[in-house]
Amino acid sequence: MASFILVLLLTILCTVPVHASKQLRFNKNGEFRILQVADMHYANGKTTPCLDVLPQQVASCSDTNTTAFIRRLIFAEKPDLIVFTGDNIFGFDTTDPVKSMNAAFSPAISSNIPWAAVIGNHDQESTLSRKGVMKYIVGMKNTLSQLNPPEALGIDGFGNYNLEVHGIENSRLVNKSLLNLYFLDSGDYSKVPSIPGYDWIKPSQQLWFQQTSTKLQRAYMNEPEAQKSPAPGLVYFHIPLPEYASFDSSNFTGVKQEGISSASINSGFFATMVEAGDVKAVFTGHDHLNDFCGDLSGIHLCYAGGFGYHAYGKAGWSRRTRMVVASLEKTDEGVWGTLKSIKTWKRLDDEHLTAIDAQVLWSKMGARRKKHIGHF
Ligand SMILES: *[C@@H]1O[C@H](CO)[C@@H](O)[C@H](O)[C@H]1NC(C)=O
Ligand SMILES: *[C@@H]1O[C@H](CO)[C@@H](O)[C@H](O)[C@H]1NC(C)=O
Ligand SMILES: *[C@@H]1O[C@H](CO)[C@@H](O)[C@H](O)[C@H]1NC(C)=O
Repeated sequence: MASFILVLLLTILCTVPVHASKQLRFNKNGEFRILQVADMHYANGKTTPCLDVLPQQVASCSDTNTTAFIRRLIFAEKPDLIVFTGDNIFGFDTTDPVKSMNAAFSPAISSNIPWAAVIGNHDQESTLSRKGVMKYIVGMKNTLSQLNPPEALGIDGFGNYNLEVHGIENSRLVNKSLLNLYFLDSGDYSKVPSIPGYDWIKPSQQLWFQQTSTKLQRAYMNEPEAQKSPAPGLVYFHIPLPEYASFDSSNFTGVKQEGISSASINSGFFATMVEAGDVKAVFTGHDHLNDFCGDLSGIHLCYAGGFGYHAYGKAGWSRRTRMVVASLEKTDEGVWGTLKSIKTWKRLDDEHLTAIDAQVLWSKMGARRKKHIGHF
């Protein structure tokens, strides 16, 4: 009886759309634009100094420069979603984490653009626990962040969830998720005494990811409007995977100016994603001086580069951000189809918000070509 009620409850929870009114959709231009903000390291605002800026910049620089940078980016890029990939606040220097989060996320909130966040390894260093920080974020205005999926009881971490991006209003794909976004908590530090260093994505989280990916692929490839291959997925979290060390300047776009600060063991999440088959790119932060993107086994592993002024950086090397734009195909009859391409570039916090390192992360044509080569 008890298990029957539980199943019933789970069924209700899973069928009621949690954010019915806030369903993400491709915009009227057939695009979905994502602004990634990595490592704001926000503390107390005006009184918090900037790190690693030029000597002549020190006096006029504070957390408010981080805020100004987000505002300018929102105006220039007009994103459909803003994603904060952790170390949103620098807990160690934060007097009041609630005040810091209110200030750090305020440009996103006042823009009325939906936003999503995960946490890094510094967000909980003030008076709120990791759960406390994530719970507070989930209650903020205009956010689509979630504490954890209701069906994944006992999952590790806080802030594991997924978001679906549906087709354009009034199109035939209005009820299909054409792009899937996954958010995971990559933790802070290892709790296993024999393994030093940073935390990793746990088996419980990988199981949830795998089941969610399977469920989404099934829905996409079944009627109505059954599709032949899975909808592309993008994954956002804070700490890079060990596989980020697979590249050098001959096979990535961007720069690597410091080591890869991943966990010291490999928990296998990269293999889990390759097996799932829908993920095209992973976006992390954590290493502020690395901003590259490289392709390993069909998955691009990307950094955003350091964003915040109270985060370590490199004087004279602009703070930066990563944009991702997914575009839909339009048929000859002018009907919107499924995804055509996923592109990325970075924007620098200079006078002109200079865009650099534009690259294609995935294209439908490229995927088709690969499939054909595979058949020979
Ligand atoms: C920080 O903002 C102030 C005020 O707008 C500006 O004068 C200064 O150049 C900015 N500093 C940096 C490093 O961008
Ligand atoms: C999409 O779903 C809504 C609500 O269930 C339904 O009314 C509508 O007919 C569906 N549209 C298409 C094109 O499938
Ligand atoms: C990148 O190139 C280096 C050699 O310069 C090679 O060792 C490495 O395996 C390459 N990585 C990938 C992912 O192709």
